[in-house]
Amino acid sequence: MTDNKLIQQYKEIISTYIEKEDERSLYEVSGFARACLAQDLGPETLVEMHSSVLSELVEGRDTEVRELVARANQVLLEGMMTCGLVYQELLERKSSEYKALEVYTKKIEKQAEQLKTLYNEIADGNIRLQELDQLKSMFIASMSHELRTPINSIIGFTGIILQGLVGELNEEQRKQLTMVKNSAKHLLALINDVIDVSKIEAGKIKLAIEEFDLSALVLEVKDSFEVATEEKGLKMSLKKPEKLTIKSDERRTKQVIMNLVSNAVKFTDEGKIEIKLTKKDRMAEMSVKDTGVGIKKEDLDRLFKAFSQVPSEGRPKQEGTGLGLYLSKKIVKLLGGEIWAESEVGKGSVFTFSLPLKYE
Ligand SMILES: Nc1ncnc2c1ncn2[C@@H]1O[C@H](COP(=O)(O)OP(=O)(O)O)[C@@H](O)[C@H]1O
Ligand SMILES: [Mg+2]
Repeated sequence: MTDNKLIQQYKEIISTYIEKEDERSLYEVSGFARACLAQDLGPETLVEMHSSVLSELVEGRDTEVRELVARANQVLLEGMMTCGLVYQELLERKSSEYKALEVYTKKIEKQAEQLKTLYNEIADGNIRLQELDQLKSMFIASMSHELRTPINSIIGFTGIILQGLVGELNEEQRKQLTMVKNSAKHLLALINDVIDVSKIEAGKIKLAIEEFDLSALVLEVKDSFEVATEEKGLKMSLKKPEKLTIKSDERRTKQVIMNLVSNAVKFTDEGKIEIKLTKKDRMAEMSVKDTGVGIKKEDLDRLFKAFSQVPSEGRPKQEGTGLGLYLSKKIVKLLGGEIWAESEVGKGSVFTFSLPLKYE
């Protein structure tokens, strides 16, 4: 039921009209009606209030008063009709706004629901990924052991047989066994590369940062290719400072240098290989330049991708895994440097990498 204060106010307005016969007090009704609307009291409530108040006031009064009240009633009801219209309009506007709001809310709710589903899917996916990652690590760990050991013994024993330690070999046997040994070596290199790639991709590679002389390391790698270059009739030169101490991962740096020099030797049939080591600001820069087959411009981008071996015309496919440059790039990046290649088909290539003097 309506609030008592409002009924009281209403009674006062009507009483003033009856007592003083002052029609002006009727105008107060419109103000009153507005107050009611502001409090969300609809026209039905007003009419209900009006009739109950009137019947109470008119009781026991004479005819004149009754007529007066009837007139007042007329005016009031008209006023209320107007109020009712306004109220109706307000109500409609509100309900349409409400409907829009409802649609909007539903939309948001639906989106929230979708988001929740998506989130759950991602969470599930993450768990699955973690499981898979673990499985992958376990697989690689066991593969590294299970495969490396027998392959190493194949290499070792074929070596022993080839050395003639268990009896003389004829030419054909020697040829076949050498092929076995080379294939096993290739397989071992492939396994080692794959293990390295998996480790790097899983972010599980442990760097061993320490100071070492890069100049000496480059010389050591160059010397290790002496036989290979001589066999192919290639010249190899090295320009380097007396000493270039850097703080980085020596084993990984050696891996990169080995790969660049071995590629240069592998892809060069005649001419020379020039290795250069310099210091540039806070970086050490090493380049390997060859007079080999070269690489087409459109193939340059592919070089550093996994398993990419770029064919060159009129040349048999070389042995290799296609992982060397990919690994080298990962390692150099990990150590804070860059690696890039320039090349011209038929003329040769230059592979260069940089490393910060101090790994941070
Ligand atoms: N010095 C080079 N001259 C010509 N081509 C090269 C040279 N170095 C690399 N490449 C090309 O890039 C490919 C990828 O090299 P790499 O990742 O080291 O793999 P792999 O040596 O096992 O083939 C090589 O197969 C070759 O096509
Ligand atoms: Mg290689």
